[in-house]
Amino acid sequence: MKSSITVDQLSHYLDQEVVIQGWVYRTRSSKHLLFIEVRDGSGIVQSILTEHDVSEEVWRKGESLRQESSVCITGVVKRDERSEKGVEVHISGIDIIQIAEDYPISHKEHGVEFLMENRHLWLRSQRQWAIMRVRHTIINAIHQFFDEQGFIHMDAPIFTGNAAEGTTTLFETDYFDEKAYLTQSGQLYGEAMAMAHGKIYTFGPTFRAEKSKTRRHLTEFWMIEPEMAFYDLNMNMDLAESFLKYVIKKTLEERNSELNQLGRDLSKLEKIVENPFIRISYTDAVEKLTSAETQGLLEKMNTQRSLRKVDLEAEVETLKKEAGNAKKWRKTQIDSTMREIHAELDQIEEDLRNIPVWKKSAAEFQWGNDFGGSDETILTMQFDAPLIVHRYPAEVKAFYMKRDPENDKLALAMDVLAPEGYGEIIGGSQREDDLEMMRNRIAEHDLPESIFSWYLDLRKYGTVPHSGFGLGLERTVAWICGLSHLRETIPFPRMMGRLSP
Ligand code: 4AD
Ligand code: MG
Repeated sequence: MKSSITVDQLSHYLDQEVVIQGWVYRTRSSKHLLFIEVRDGSGIVQSILTEHDVSEEVWRKGESLRQESSVCITGVVKRDERSEKGVEVHISGIDIIQIAEDYPISHKEHGVEFLMENRHLWLRSQRQWAIMRVRHTIINAIHQFFDEQGFIHMDAPIFTGNAAEGTTTLFETDYFDEKAYLTQSGQLYGEAMAMAHGKIYTFGPTFRAEKSKTRRHLTEFWMIEPEMAFYDLNMNMDLAESFLKYVIKKTLEERNSELNQLGRDLSKLEKIVENPFIRISYTDAVEKLTSAETQGLLEKMNTQRSLRKVDLEAEVETLKKEAGNAKKWRKTQIDSTMREIHAELDQIEEDLRNIPVWKKSAAEFQWGNDFGGSDETILTMQFDAPLIVHRYPAEVKAFYMKRDPENDKLALAMDVLAPEGYGEIIGGSQREDDLEMMRNRIAEHDLPESIFSWYLDLRKYGTVPHSGFGLGLERTVAWICGLSHLRETIPFPRMMGRLSP
C-alpha cells in the first residue's frame, strides 16, 4: 500500500502531490475532462482528470471507473472556492484495485424497503454516513459527560433470569436447559453496582419483544442507564437535563457540517442547550392534554395543513405546465422540486388523517392511562424545550419505582419527552428502597421472589435512597439528526420483520 492521506486532511497539502485511497462515488465527463468524486470514509473530494495532461493509459483507466470501484489516486491538491471543502485534486495517476460490478444503489431515488435490503451498501451513501458520524459523537459525548461527573462505567449482563420492564416483552432463549431472557434493561444490576461505587452508568444493548411496528421501536437498541446512590427524583431530573444539554452542545460543536448536510434546523437544537426544560406533573399534563386550548391548537393545525395543501397543489399544477416545454436542466430542477412537494403533501395527508384521531383521543384521555405516542406529540408540540413529566400513576409504571409519599397512587417516575413530536427519550425514577415495600411490589406484579433475592439484598444491607434513568440512544440520534424513523439511526436495525442484513 502506498502511504496516503485522507480527504479530510487535503487542505493542509495545497499544491502538493498526494495519494488518496478510496471508492468512486460518482463520475461525470465533459469532452476531455473526467470529474471523479472519490470518497474515502473521511469525506468526499472532487478529482479531475484532464485528457491532455496524462498518458493514454491513465485516461483509459479513468474512463473505466464505475460507481464504488476501489482506487488509489495520485494528484496535486488545488484550491477550489466553489467546492465545500475548498479543494480539488488534479489527477496524475490512477491505480485500480477493483472495477466494481454494477452497483445496485444509484444516485436516483430508491424505495426504503430496497435500501433496507441493501443496508450493508446503503451505509456508504452520504446521508447514512453523516448519521453514523453524529451517532459516534453522541456516544463519545455520553461517555465524556459521565466521566467528568465521576461516574463509573459498568457492563450489565445480556443473558438474564428475570424481567425488568414487564414480562410481556421478553425474548426468551435456552440457557443450558434453563430459561434465560435477553436483557430489557441493565438497571437492576446497575443498582447493585451503584451501592459499590455511588454513581455508575451502563451502556449496552437492550432487547424488547413488543410486537410494535412504529417508527420509534426497535427490538434491539442501545440504552444508557445511570444509577446514583443518595439521589432523589429532583436530582435525577436535574441530571437528565444537564446530561442532554451536554450531549447536544458537544454534537453541535463537533458535527455541525454533518447536521447541516442532514438539513437539520440547528436553531432548534441550540434552544435546547440554552433554555431550561419544562417540568410538569402527569396530572397537570393530563389537564393540558384534555383542555379546550389543546383542542383549539389541533383545530388550528388542521386549518394550517389544509391551506398548505391547497397552496402546494396549485404549485404542482404550475410546475407541470412549465415542465412541458422546459429545457433539460430546468426539467431536472422541476423534478426535484416536485419530489419535495410530494413528500410534504404525503406528510400533510398523514397529518390530516391523524389530527381528528388525536383530537378525540386527547379529549377523551382518562387520568390513570399511559400516554400514547400521539398524546406525547400533542404535549411536546406546545413547547420548544423538552418536557419532563413526573409523578405518573404507579399502575402504568414498573414495579421497582418508589411511591410518592404524598400520594400513594403516584410513582416517583419521570419521562423526558423531546420536542418536535419525538416524544419519550428518557424514562426513569426514584427506586423503592424499603425491603418490605419491595417484597410487596414483586408479589403484586406476580414476579417470582426467588429470582429477585439478590435484588432484595440491596434493601437489606445498607439501603439508601437512589435514582436513575435510561436514555434510548437511537431515539436520541433520531431527534438530534431530525430523522422520522429509527431504522436509519443504527448500522443494522433489528425490527419486527427485519433480521437481515
Ligand atoms: O422507559 P424504559 O422502558 O425504561 C427502562 O428501561 C428503565 N429501566 C430505565 C432506567 O430507569 N434505568 O426505556 C428507557 C428508554 C426509553 O425512554 C426510550 O428512549 C428507549 O429506552 N426505548 C426504546 N428505544 C427504541 N426501541 C424500543 N423498543 C425502546 N423501548 C425503550
Ligand atoms: Mg418508558
